[in-house]
Amino acid sequence: MGIYGMVTGKAGKSGFGSASTAEDVTHGIDANHLTAIITGGTSGIGLEAARVLAMRGAHVIIAARNTKAANESKEMIVQMNPNARVDFLQLDLSSTKSVRSFVHQFLALNLPLNILINNAGVMFCPFQLTEDGIESQFATNHIGHFLLTNLLLDKMKSTSKESRIEGRIVNLSSVAHTYTYSQGIKFDSINDPDGYSEKKAYGQSKLSNLLHSNALSRKLKEEGVNITVNSVHPGLVTTNLFRHSGLGMKVFKAMSFFLWKDITQGAATTCYVALNPNMKGVTGKYFADCNVTAPSKFGTNDSLADKLWDFSRRVLSPLDAELHSFLWAMSSLRLHGRYCSVFHTDSQELVNMVADPDSWPRFQSELAEFQELRTSFPDFTLTYCSRGKNEKADLLAKNARLHNSAFDYVSTSIPL
Ligand SMILES: NC(=O)c1ccc[n+]([C@@H]2O[C@H](COP(=O)([O-])OP(=O)(O)OC[C@H]3O[C@@H](n4cnc5c(N)ncnc54)[C@H](OP(=O)(O)O)[C@@H]3O)[C@@H](O)[C@H]2O)c1
Repeated sequence: MGIYGMVTGKAGKSGFGSASTAEDVTHGIDANHLTAIITGGTSGIGLEAARVLAMRGAHVIIAARNTKAANESKEMIVQMNPNARVDFLQLDLSSTKSVRSFVHQFLALNLPLNILINNAGVMFCPFQLTEDGIESQFATNHIGHFLLTNLLLDKMKSTSKESRIEGRIVNLSSVAHTYTYSQGIKFDSINDPDGYSEKKAYGQSKLSNLLHSNALSRKLKEEGVNITVNSVHPGLVTTNLFRHSGLGMKVFKAMSFFLWKDITQGAATTCYVALNPNMKGVTGKYFADCNVTAPSKFGTNDSLADKLWDFSRRVLSPLDAELHSFLWAMSSLRLHGRYCSVFHTDSQELVNMVADPDSWPRFQSELAEFQELRTSFPDFTLTYCSRGKNEKADLLAKNARLHNSAFDYVSTSIPL
């Protein structure tokens, strides 16, 4: 569609364009037989999408972290449409524990699930690690949704199979996916505060949303599952998303006022992809202004999408939860000006190490290195982290102390 379409609102091939509203693109659609989850349905685009899906008859589950805002949103939707079926379940996407708990609660309701709209998002946040030790924009925008989608997939598969109705997953990406780090996704330093850019980290997370859609779409196609997965750029829409943006964005907005949409238009592409019958069988595509559009080069890179898929799975594995805690421990110790090194093992390895010190080749060679370091860094601290219980880590520390009493040891047990 391009700038011309954005400015003029001219309809594209789908019959809709940037001026279309969520109500326009769902006009006449009966969604009474559908159940949809919308993350972040308490504000901006998500709230409008929730309102319009409920208006078309869908049973909408708002997944949000703020109970007060969720109740107010629900009240507002029901006030406008007393027949609306809207429920709320708590979900904080920045916490894998909360995502798991949300899915547990949703599955306990024994509802079908036809539509999943991964809408919630944060933008331009200052560097911060989540409670799982993951950079917050990547964690909230991508990892939380990646986990949520994977945990809900069986439910969506069984719903589509039993109902014979196509399931639909919609990921809110952004045109900002084009503005990311030079390598697309910083797999080897995702949690590194050095070189962190609030804007590029947001772009990286939105590229991840797009690549997640593409990879999942391919996997479901290969499996022959009747669920489509697409990503959307909703347009430039004035919402709370801009809470962390500075003067530069205000100036940009003033200069580009003719490109901005209101909320009713901002939710149109999401609702079109989620509900419109024209979308039947369309999967693995990226949409803007209710029409298929071309993403960036990174956005069409299948091997990058596969790499992100594997990386996201590893981030979510218990071992990686441990690794992230290590990184956190390291960065916090560095902040205190202390040298820190880390052993990384699982509890089984730990038991062997305690039982038979001579079979610790890696540990032995590291010890020699530490001894050298100790001469240059008298303030040396060895942080030992393990998946095992505290006693095991303590035992290792005690045993290691017998080998070289010159070291200080801090043992940490990482909760899984
Ligand atoms: N607005 C635009 O111009 C634009 C452009 C391109 C893409 N997008 C994308 O569109 C989506 C919706 O954004 P919006 O503009 O509607 O912004 P918004 O008004 O700020 O809405 C974002 C929603 O996400 C929720 N959220 C944030 N962090 C969360 C967390 N950890 N757990 C659960 N929910 C969380 C927010 O809840 P709280 O109220 O509790 O924070 C809010 O309900 C985002 O994915 C954004 O990247 C927007």
